[in-house]
Amino acid sequence: MVLPDDCQYHIALRAADLGSATTALLPGDPDRVEPLARRLAQAVGGTLEPLARHREFTSCRLQWAQGCVVICSTGIGGPSTAIATEELARLGITRFLRVGTTGAIQPHIEIGDLVISRAAVRLEGASHHYAPAAYPAVAGFDTTERLVAAARATQVPWHLGITASSDTFWPGQERYDSYSGYVRRDFQGSLAEWRALKVANFEMEAATLLTQCSVMGLEAGCLCGVIAQRVDSEVVDTSAYERISERWTQLLAKALSEGL
Ligand code: URA
Repeated sequence: MVLPDDCQYHIALRAADLGSATTALLPGDPDRVEPLARRLAQAVGGTLEPLARHREFTSCRLQWAQGCVVICSTGIGGPSTAIATEELARLGITRFLRVGTTGAIQPHIEIGDLVISRAAVRLEGASHHYAPAAYPAVAGFDTTERLVAAARATQVPWHLGITASSDTFWPGQERYDSYSGYVRRDFQGSLAEWRALKVANFEMEAATLLTQCSVMGLEAGCLCGVIAQRVDSEVVDTSAYERISERWTQLLAKALSEGL
């Protein structure tokens, strides 16, 4: 493939596509990019421009009177998240905000609630290509502060906590409803231990994003909607997705209108 000038190999975007955007919103699923952009466009009174679609990376630009952001899917997990982050950073993005779904592991967090990550446990592999294991996966203070301020202003049910990021949906999150039903010994009892250590939730991308942005000197945050309550279930409640979408749209519209 021959790439025109600064067109990035994986995300198929070039700097001009981003307009004046320096913030990227990062859902995991390519099919969530446009619905998220449409809801936000309605909430902030903006317009959207579809940009590119290549592999797991679908993108569009949202422009409104006071600002502009790019929305780009990361795919699932650390490796593809690291690629999207690297290529968006090369094009001039300096603030990265994951907008995804998660499984809560604390009993007081309910399906449909939002979780803002202040840090992440690095159970995944990709972050270890950026920094040694002792390095913390910590969210950008400015981004987190803005998310918390928006959450308080909109009164959506939200929590601030430590997130555990796993490379796998089944064994790494101690799910037994897999094909084999087996969880290797290292992970047996891990959910209860993370809960005892006050970890709020499981997902698959935050640790990579937070570590990578820290080592690159860039801002990052993570906002997830709870789609599974893991205290006594392994089920993903897809019926909660609509409620979650409404809530993160409210929160993000407020944060964006305040200059996120
Ligand atoms: N995403 C995850 O990684 N885990 C869940 O339980 C739900 C969403």
